[in-house]
Amino acid sequence: MRILGIETTCDETAASVVTATDMSSIDVESSIVASQVKIHAPWGGVVPNLAAREHTKNLIPIITTALADASVQPPAIDMIAVANRPGLIPALLTGVAAAKTLAYAWRKPLIGIHHIEGHIYANWIDHATEIIFPVLALVVSGGHTQLVMMHDHCVYDIVGQTQDDAVGEAFDKVARILELGYPGGPAIATHADAFTTLQRANPFTLPRPMLQTPGYDFSFSGLKTAVLYTVKEFRATQQHTQHTPLPPDFVNAVAHAFQEAACDVLIKKTIRAARMYAARTVVLAGGVSANRHLRTHLRATLTEQLPNVRFFCPAQIYCGDNAAMIATAAYYRYTTTTDTTRYTDTWRTLHARATDTLPRSDTSF
Ligand code: KG4
Ligand code: ZN
Repeated sequence: MRILGIETTCDETAASVVTATDMSSIDVESSIVASQVKIHAPWGGVVPNLAAREHTKNLIPIITTALADASVQPPAIDMIAVANRPGLIPALLTGVAAAKTLAYAWRKPLIGIHHIEGHIYANWIDHATEIIFPVLALVVSGGHTQLVMMHDHCVYDIVGQTQDDAVGEAFDKVARILELGYPGGPAIATHADAFTTLQRANPFTLPRPMLQTPGYDFSFSGLKTAVLYTVKEFRATQQHTQHTPLPPDFVNAVAHAFQEAACDVLIKKTIRAARMYAARTVVLAGGVSANRHLRTHLRATLTEQLPNVRFFCPAQIYCGDNAAMIATAAYYRYTTTTDTTRYTDTWRTLHARATDTLPRSDTSF
């Protein structure tokens, strides 16, 4: 089965052609991502209407390139998959409109995919044969921070989630406080790494919110505020004004302390949940899964504390928003879902939805 995936939930316009011969072989024939980072950077974050305008401009060329890179013509496509929820409505509408139009014109089945389901299934692109259920997914993106249990394909139980900011949002806000610009996550990681190479003890320690709280929920807004107070205190003791740039050594140390604190909570809660729910595989999903510190420390801690649990994270190119993950999720949803929802998406009925939760299973924990 050959699937054309389309993704426009936020600030990346993406299209991909994925071929799946069976549940154990996913072949990404093309994956094109046009980033809008430069357009949104001057605004310090994503501007929904600007994102929609760029998607509208880029969608047809990106889809055309994805088909050309895969050397396929529309008749060779069996199904169209589009991320239709959740996201920025003006941005979502562009991808959904394009997918509906193509489904109508080419007479293809259409399937709407939850963006986070796509992020989770990015792990199946390279590890389809190695992932065994039950799976615990640590979802870390700009809009979500969740621990999701999967006892089977496409059924999800959210066992924990953030009570306030998503972890990616916290990375972005802390980057703004440290004057590192947008997007913040990769900048924080780079500055934290610069501190690590010094092999010095960090003079700053930041709180680990909700680490001692029972359950698997998270909170990151207090951690972000702790960074804000650390910067204010530093400025006060240095008699800095708001206009004096923060010194690089200070920025590196605070970025490092923040990354350590955020990852520490994520890792410890993931281990606890993996133990509690007897997960046989842990996967990382979402934009923050690109973070090297999180990937390596989660892997190392799992190896040490739960050596029988497998761990996978997507290849770097599939960590951020892309359409290969949408097409991959669509394949598993199409192949494994037996209920009628599988067939309900058509060019007439498919809608973009700003908010939505992952489809839940009936299993109660
Ligand atoms: O999944 P994603 O691309 O978009 C959403 O679905 O939200 O995630 C974007 C988030 C942003 O907050 C970005 O700062 C963060 O992922 N991010 C990172 C890294 N690369 C991207 N955070 C930490 N370290 C990184 N290397
Ligand atoms: Zn995403």
